[in-house]
Amino acid sequence: MSKIIISPSILSSDFANLGRDIRLIENAGADWVHIDVMDGHFVPNITIGAPVVKSIRKVTKLPFDVHLMIDNPRKYIKDFVEAGADIITFHIEAVDRKSVVEIADYIKSFGIKAGLSIKPKTNPEEILEYMAYFDLILIMTVEPGFGGQKFIAESAQKISLIKRFADEKLILQVDGGINSETARVCTRLGANSLVAGSYIYNAENACDAINSLR
Ligand code: DX5
Ligand code: ZN
Repeated sequence: MSKIIISPSILSSDFANLGRDIRLIENAGADWVHIDVMDGHFVPNITIGAPVVKSIRKVTKLPFDVHLMIDNPRKYIKDFVEAGADIITFHIEAVDRKSVVEIADYIKSFGIKAGLSIKPKTNPEEILEYMAYFDLILIMTVEPGFGGQKFIAESAQKISLIKRFADEKLILQVDGGINSETARVCTRLGANSLVAGSYIYNAENACDAINSLR
């Protein structure tokens, strides 16, 4: 079985102790650091931007998995690359369909991975034609915007369809409401990367929490 990539979301960390909380997940065995960028337009919440990413780049060598939940993502890609992103994922719902491939190529032109995400209400068939241009597909299992929401099981079912059309190298990531039980549902359907915020950061022992997801 191939390795499951665990990407803890720092949205559930203590922002007053962000460096400490990133080291915490690194020591607990995280593979990536998931960074949720929200603009108050594409989603109702506002979180963090490139300057914060730049400053946390100093505390870890783990890859930065940047999840853009913003309108007009192309405009900010360079900023996040320069801040130290290793993977940049944007939402298909945030862009004109005609520009999806161009944005993927633009992200990859910096030598980093490109991801495409879909919200729970978006038909997965809409992304099939673009999958070949991406390194990662992010299937949201909650409505993007907030941590700590309940897993939407119907969204996870999209993984099977996407998996059927995906080539072997494509990373299939899920995000939202992931815990040890929902992780199992998703990995059985074919997901090989799990984002988890509250489950890891609220756990007594982050290492045990991460191991229970694998
Ligand atoms: C939600 C974000 C998630 C969030 C997940 O819009 O994209 O990454 O941090 O939080 P949990 O794991 O608590 O559902
Ligand atoms: Zn996310």
